[in-house]
Parts: sequence; structure tokens; C-alpha cells
Amino acid sequence: MESVVEPGANDLERAAESALRPKNLDEFVGQKTLRQQLSLVLEAARRRGDAADHILLSGPPGLGKTTLAMIVAAEMGTSLRLTSGPAIQHAGDLASILSSLQEGDVLFIDEIHRLSRPAEEMLYLAMEDFRVDVIVGKGPGATSIPLTLPPFTVTGATTRAGLLPAPLRDRFGYTGHLEYYQHDELESIVRRSANLLGAEISGEAAKELAKRSRGTPRIANRLLRRVYDYSQVHGNGEIDAQAAKEALKLFEVDPLGLDRLDRLVLEGLCERFGGGPVGISTLAMSIGEEPETVETVSEPYLVREGFLVRTPRGRMATAQAWRHLGLTPPASDLFNLLDN
Ligand SMILES: Nc1ncnc2c1ncn2[C@@H]1O[C@H](COP(=O)(O)OP(=O)(O)OP(=O)(O)O)[C@@H](O)[C@H]1O
Ligand SMILES: [Mg+2]
Repeated sequence: MESVVEPGANDLERAAESALRPKNLDEFVGQKTLRQQLSLVLEAARRRGDAADHILLSGPPGLGKTTLAMIVAAEMGTSLRLTSGPAIQHAGDLASILSSLQEGDVLFIDEIHRLSRPAEEMLYLAMEDFRVDVIVGKGPGATSIPLTLPPFTVTGATTRAGLLPAPLRDRFGYTGHLEYYQHDELESIVRRSANLLGAEISGEAAKELAKRSRGTPRIANRLLRRVYDYSQVHGNGEIDAQAAKEALKLFEVDPLGLDRLDRLVLEGLCERFGGGPVGISTLAMSIGEEPETVETVSEPYLVREGFLVRTPRGRMATAQAWRHLGLTPPASDLFNLLDN
């Protein structure tokens, strides 16, 4: 793992995460609108005794899509089948999953935007008509046998809703967009997770972690684990504000959640290029990084938090970036434009 504030997760971390997953909608913190909408969709289906409509969950990594898909199955009292776009190599793989579904099952397809074209087409048909054509045999003798499927619910997750072809997108009866979390929501998540880990955490420490988690529960949980490690090694295992601050300093996460790379980018921009505008390749090269890394790893958060802007002439630091580095922003008309 590159950094403790990276929003994605590897397999090892995903395994550790499953212990912290909320099990039902009431335990799920934040995303109030989505929670209310989803709760209505599920409740109505339950009352009718039907499988719920197909559900699409979209949003950045680490905000709770997989967690919600599991909650859908739990709330419906049915079983969950897990697969993902990249795991389905051939349409035949999907056909065999589909033909093994039981009535009411929830089929979770992670990274659904990465399904192959033939699998996608098979999925349209299955979602709309609950039908799949199974190919038996090979070559010229192969025959296609239409199979009727029991009603089931596809729950798709994607970080890139824009990449889903419209026909597939249209087959979802409900689409929920996950938003970045507020500080108070992340604070509740940190407290809840600490409780599950058996860690004592002070209110102030939970606040501190929430502020540095970039609006992302996965990052909040990860910072919590590192801070818990620190408090066990350097203290009595209780996480207070001081332990939290020291641990996060060790992992180079600053009070606003910026890590080493983020600060390097801003420092490069302000100190070497007078705040820009400067092209991304020049900027990346000046700090010894690949343009791609700067653009995909660092820039999204810097832009979202108003530290950096992309202009037609290149990247520019905002006045807030200068101040965050403890520097005085140069007086310029452009800054007045950007800040207002
Ligand atoms: N609303 C929430 N309340 C409490 N914990 C949450 C919430 N949302 C996410 N988490 C926790 O954050 C971690 C990451 O969540 P999850 O795996 O569901 O994210 P994801 O959106 O599926 O990410 P990815 O796009 O990388 O697959 C899990 O440990 C989960 O328990
Ligand atoms: Mg996921």
C-alpha cells in the first residue's frame, strides 16, 4: 500500500474490513437520503413478497457500496451471490451463475462497468425477462437452450457510473449515489469501529481521525487501526488525542488528511512554480513522480478540498494551499477570482 490515505484496498485489507461492516440499514451511518430511498424500495418489495428491483450503487472507493449490497440481501432475508465484472471472463461464466440462482437471491456484481460486452448483453436479458440462453455443446453442433430464471435482484456497484452503457444502466430500477461523508458521520463510524475492535477512544481522538479521513469510511477505519497499534505500543492501548496526533504524524497524515505526496505536489507548485499555472508533467517531474500518479492519486482530493485548480494553462495552487503550507499567497487578481 502506497499511503494510509489511499481510498482503494487490497485483498488483505478487504478481509479485515468485513469485521467492521454494518449488518443492516440502521447500523449504516450517513448517506441519509440513499438510506431512506433504499429502505423504501426494500420495504415495498418485502410487503409485496417480490424480489426487490435491480439496484445500482455508484460512488468513489471506500464509501460503502459492497457493504450496502450485503445489507440488501440481509434486509430481504435472502442469500447473496458475489461476483465482479473482471471475474466474469466469458458470457458462459455468467450463464452458469445465473442458472444457479434461487428465487429472491441477490446477485452482487462489483465493478459492473468492467463486464465484457457479451456478458453485458446476457445480463440485460436476464434482468429484464428473467431468461438466459445456455449454450450446450461446441462448434456447429452447439445449441442454445432458453432457461427461465426465478425472480432475483442484481445489485451492481461501480466507481465509474459514466462508463456503464445506457441500456444496462436503464435496467436498474433504483440507482443510489454515495457521497463523501461529513466529519460527524465519520466520527460515529470511528467510534463504532473502535468498539468492535475493543479499543477505547476519546471523543477528541475520534474527531481528529474523522477530520483526516478524506470523507471516506475505509480511510477512517484504516487510520483507526494504525492509531490503535500506536497506542498499544507506546501507551496503555487507550486512544487519546495525543496518541492519535503522534501516530498520524508518524504516518505523515496532516491535520486535513493530506499525505506526503499531496504536500510534495503543493510545495512543488508553490515553491518552484510560484503557484502555477504549470503543466502536470512538468510539475510531476519536478517532484520525481509520474504524471499519472499525481493526476490519479493526489489531485482528486486536492481539487475536491480546494487546494488546487485545473485551468486551461495548467495546475494552480489556491490561496488556501499557500496558507496550508504556512506560506503567504502572492497578491494577484487571479486569486481573488478563485477565492470568490
Ligand atoms: N456508512 C458506513 N458506516 C460504517 N462503516 C462503513 C460505512 N460505509 C463503509 N464502511 C466501512 O468502510 C469499509 C469500506 O466499505 P466498502 O467495502 O463497502 O466500500 P466500497 O464502496 O465497496 O469500496 P470499493 O469501491 O473499493 O469496493 C468497510 O470496512 C465498511 O465497513
Ligand atoms: Mg466494494
